[in-house]
Amino acid sequence: MGIEIMKCSVESTLEEVLKCIDVNGKKAAFLVDRNDIMVGILTDGDIRRCLLDGHGLKEKAIQFAIKSFKYAHVADNPEEVFKLFDYKVSILPILDEKGRVVDYSEYNENMHISVAQPQLNGNEYKYLMDAFLSTWISSNGKYITQFEEKFAAFCGASHGVATSNGTTALHLALVALGIGVGDEVIVPDLTFAATINAVIYTGATPVIVDVEEDSWCIDPDKIEEAITDKTKAIIPVHVYGQPCDMERICDIAHRNNIIIVEDCAEAHGAEFNGKKVGTFGAIGCFSFFGNKVITTGEGGMCITNDTELDRAMRVLRDHGMSKTRRYYHEVVGFNYRMTNMQAAIGCAQLERITDILQERKKLEDLYRERLSDSAIVFQRNNLAKRKKITWLVSGLVEEKVRPKLFAKMAEGGIDTRGFFTPLSEMDIYRQYANRTCEVSHHISKCGINFPTSYEISQEVIDRIHDDLNAVVND
Ligand SMILES: Cc1ncc(COP(=O)(O)O)c(C=O)c1O
Repeated sequence: MGIEIMKCSVESTLEEVLKCIDVNGKKAAFLVDRNDIMVGILTDGDIRRCLLDGHGLKEKAIQFAIKSFKYAHVADNPEEVFKLFDYKVSILPILDEKGRVVDYSEYNENMHISVAQPQLNGNEYKYLMDAFLSTWISSNGKYITQFEEKFAAFCGASHGVATSNGTTALHLALVALGIGVGDEVIVPDLTFAATINAVIYTGATPVIVDVEEDSWCIDPDKIEEAITDKTKAIIPVHVYGQPCDMERICDIAHRNNIIIVEDCAEAHGAEFNGKKVGTFGAIGCFSFFGNKVITTGEGGMCITNDTELDRAMRVLRDHGMSKTRRYYHEVVGFNYRMTNMQAAIGCAQLERITDILQERKKLEDLYRERLSDSAIVFQRNNLAKRKKITWLVSGLVEEKVRPKLFAKMAEGGIDTRGFFTPLSEMDIYRQYANRTCEVSHHISKCGINFPTSYEISQEVIDRIHDDLNAVVND
């Protein structure tokens, strides 16, 4: 529909503006002078309020119009226009340099499609309000215990220790295991920085190794090569929802007397050999950040089958304070606690985790089907013994195509993410990589994460398909 349907003369009455809104169906009309210069905007809500205030339909509309309205400029790119929308403004006039209204832009959810979006349409609000109204809003309250027990049970572990985020979960686990100065901890090159940061916080030395070409996860051969007398732990990261080769990693750890701490931040529910990730090592660490499979806003959890470790983590999480003697501190601990409000959201999320995982898988299957003839090589989903989950729909495209694809998708308001920068490529971590990590460098340069929110429609995937073809054939 053209811009004309949005315009009313500055001379219009409230009745005429109302008729205009009735015809355009956009809940607003733009008041313009005879040179088409925009002088005000009126919404149906504004008119309703005028009538309720006792004004008549025959009164001039301009006196009630909003004159300091938001607008976009014709030269603005779609991203800039998008930023102008908020919960009140869902339609924007587009003005030329003389202030003449030449077009309009309407908020629609397809305009900005984010890579990830939490699905909060179950009991999240109800439980959150319950926690809030109970006044137990800090780190005591029924939801914490419930969330810990239920999430641990979902993973097949006997204990869960909720934390303030996934990074603190990793740090807590390492400290509880006694890892510190003089120890070496092997980490993959392709991961989020939190994995290596947690090691550095303890004073131990991280040792970066390359990843496998097929799974993108830490390469067991490279782990073996990196083991020294000082190696105390390995942190396999189940990256982008793909489980690591836990059979080989457990074997290596067992033979060399090395502890395993799994980083499962991106792989809730993934399995190796029918067993859920997080239960292979001494401790499994999860993140519940807003872009994760389930979220608590910020949040994390350590799971374990070891009662002693569970106890140690509970003490460390709570300032190192004794569980039997208040204000007596056994160790130098931290405040890494989760709040009851976060846990309330987590409990509601957990009720639907199986459905959420299924929906994400269905979405990934749709991507695979609609983009089957395109230049993308999707993440492997058929590796022996591994049952990946869909965190973000991920794949590789040619390195030279990727920036063009990012730009093309951004033009249409579709958000994408490249893969993590390899740790060994960053100045602050390079010193911890004694070997080249060619595989992770290649994957990182070609990797792309597609929008994986539950609201993604086939139409959006088809747009991505067309964008991909356009940039490949460019
Ligand atoms: C692999 C990995 N480890 C650790 C973390 C840290 O989790 P958080 O952001 O909750 O601290 C994240 C994600 O954010 C992650 O992707």
